[in-house]
Amino acid sequence: MDLLTRVVCALLLLALLLAVTPCPGESKELCPHPCRCQRRGLLDCRHAGLATVPPATRRRALTVLDFTGNSIATLDEQTWKEYPWTETLVLRDNELQAVKSHSLEGLFLLKHLDLSGNRILLIEEGAFEPLPFLRLLNLSGNGLTQIHSSTFQAWHGMQFLEELASLNQPGHPHLP
Ligand SMILES: *[C@@H]1O[C@H](CO)[C@@H](O)[C@H](O)[C@H]1NC(C)=O
Repeated sequence: MDLLTRVVCALLLLALLLAVTPCPGESKELCPHPCRCQRRGLLDCRHAGLATVPPATRRRALTVLDFTGNSIATLDEQTWKEYPWTETLVLRDNELQAVKSHSLEGLFLLKHLDLSGNRILLIEEGAFEPLPFLRLLNLSGNGLTQIHSSTFQAWHGMQFLEELASLNQPGHPHLP
């Protein structure tokens, strides 16, 4: 190759690299529609008319997801696949009826979970199994009247759980 060809090749390669590398300013392209990503790490999907959690790209490190006031009714094992960095998840005032054993799959780093104001009547065994670092769980404002102690049995022992707000009254009910 002569010098000119080499320079052209190098430039093409550089252009290609620039095209595939996300720039910090490119928030719009990487922000799951129709949510807002104005603050670093925060996904703001409040009152966005969502029936399901929108797909994301894991290139964007979102640590706080706020879905307050939508009509999300189901969560499946794929839902959080591209949200591996989440530490706080707010699903307050949605239409969830159950927390299934796979509903929270993929949220390994989760610390705060707000499920208040849904219609949750059922929490499947093992539902919190994917959350070894959970510290705060809010289940208030659901139809729950009792929670089986087996709900909180997990390989990790839920050892970081400090606060559980539930049974329609925020407070400190007994942890099993
Ligand atoms: C739990 O959720 C309710 C309703 O959204 C809220 O009023 C309460 O402050 C929350 N409790 C905690 C401990 O976050």
